[in-house]
Amino acid sequence: MTAKKVYIETVGCQMNVLDSELVIGALRKQGYDLTDTAADADVLLFNTCSVREHAEEKTYSALGRVVPHKKHNPGVVVGVIGCMAQKDQHAILDRAPYVDMVVGTGQLARIPELVEEVKRTRTPQFAVSLGRADGGRHEVEASFESYDPTRDPSMRPTPFQAFVRIQIGCDKFCTYCVVPSTRGPEQSRQPDHILAEVRQLVEQGCKEVTLLGQTVNSYVYEHGDGRRTRLSDLMAAMHDTPGLDRIKFVTNYPKDMTDDLLDAVRELPKVVKYLHVPAQSGCDEVLKRMKRNYTVASYREMLARCREKVPGVSVTSDFIVGFCGETEESFQKTMDLVRESVFKNSYIFKYSERTGTKAADRYPDDIDEEVKKRRNQDLLAVQNANSLADHQAQIGKTTSVIVERASRHGKRETGPVKQLTGHTMADHIVVFDGPDRLIGEIVPVRIDDASPFTLYGEVLTGETVGVSSEAKPRAARPRRIGLNTV
Ligand code: 5AD
Ligand code: SF4
Repeated sequence: MTAKKVYIETVGCQMNVLDSELVIGALRKQGYDLTDTAADADVLLFNTCSVREHAEEKTYSALGRVVPHKKHNPGVVVGVIGCMAQKDQHAILDRAPYVDMVVGTGQLARIPELVEEVKRTRTPQFAVSLGRADGGRHEVEASFESYDPTRDPSMRPTPFQAFVRIQIGCDKFCTYCVVPSTRGPEQSRQPDHILAEVRQLVEQGCKEVTLLGQTVNSYVYEHGDGRRTRLSDLMAAMHDTPGLDRIKFVTNYPKDMTDDLLDAVRELPKVVKYLHVPAQSGCDEVLKRMKRNYTVASYREMLARCREKVPGVSVTSDFIVGFCGETEESFQKTMDLVRESVFKNSYIFKYSERTGTKAADRYPDDIDEEVKKRRNQDLLAVQNANSLADHQAQIGKTTSVIVERASRHGKRETGPVKQLTGHTMADHIVVFDGPDRLIGEIVPVRIDDASPFTLYGEVLTGETVGVSSEAKPRAARPRRIGLNTV
């Protein structure tokens, strides 16, 4: 008998990438093989994002593409899982009536069972969590299960890097955002479980973990006996795990950027010197309507504190342009903030109204699409100039790089030396020449050139930079790894 096959498409954030890994891990245990060809699959899953309308439309297009396969093979199971499933529930079947299974973010553990149920009954199966107002806090929390079962190394972007969820949900309720309802109440995972998962990942060959939470720096676990574990404590506890080389964490909430965390980032050598701290806007009135709970002045103060406490730290941000009532003057304040902040990068989004959010209820989506587009481009131009400045400031430095893969844009595809790519300790992407065998290693690279998005460098051997459990300091002169030297 040939193995049953599962196909999965994932859109959205790193949390979704992790969820897809876990779902595939669970289905493999049921005897499924992963296929990257939809037409070969018995089960087709779409792990979805609701943050912007565009992401939802992408999923509906993808669903449309599987209609012929489903028509010829009515026995296949088509599942919509994740944020859209939680948000739209039965309404998904209005646009895609051939969908067999709708499973929200808090119910993913049930997928293997629900697939069998669809096959047995040939009726659509729904598994969603409670809405935020559908019960008491504990009841709603319990309906969003933290889903972190067996890990599946083959699903990771690389075998030596993995995401680890430390927190689920969000309690910030920014007025534009669906996440507090699609991912439920904020809950911090138990430190012991996280530390055990990190040890397991390292045993599987993982060198870098990225700790995930919607507001990861709000992480706090109350042990019930008066003890509390904060993100800084958690990272200190995992720091000595033998074989673990790097610890990253995303995404931060500006107001929760405490000094103990910044001290930990500075003091713990394995913690990447990189902070993603979305500002969203540079105008106080807009921040107030967004209900971000901070002012531009306090964001600036926080940014200065990050840079003072963690010398050389690189900071990135998110911005929404064209939010309800954003005047030209408000937008210019955002331009000012981006201009002066010199972020390594900013992710810029056009406001997309989401039903069910406070902003959709309270404020009209009154900025023209053309204006949103223009503001997006203007802000991007300012950011790109700063990204280039940030990247150029790296030229001449030698930094440790985790080598991830052959560069997708690499010119050299054959022969022993390829263009490789990886990330520095300040999360810059760097491209350099080197042999395949460096993939998965942490190596010193001297930065020679920069574009707004990429650094270019040269691998040095004979010296050790940063922390690597493998690397041993050597005194030899640095030499270039090239065709003739390796
Ligand atoms: N429209 C546009 N962008 C949004 N984001 C969240 N909700 C919306 C929305 N309704 C952006 C924010 C957030 C990032 C993940 O997505 O900038 O930080
Ligand atoms: Fe959404 Fe705000 Fe929570 Fe981030 S902090 S997930 S933007 S509600």
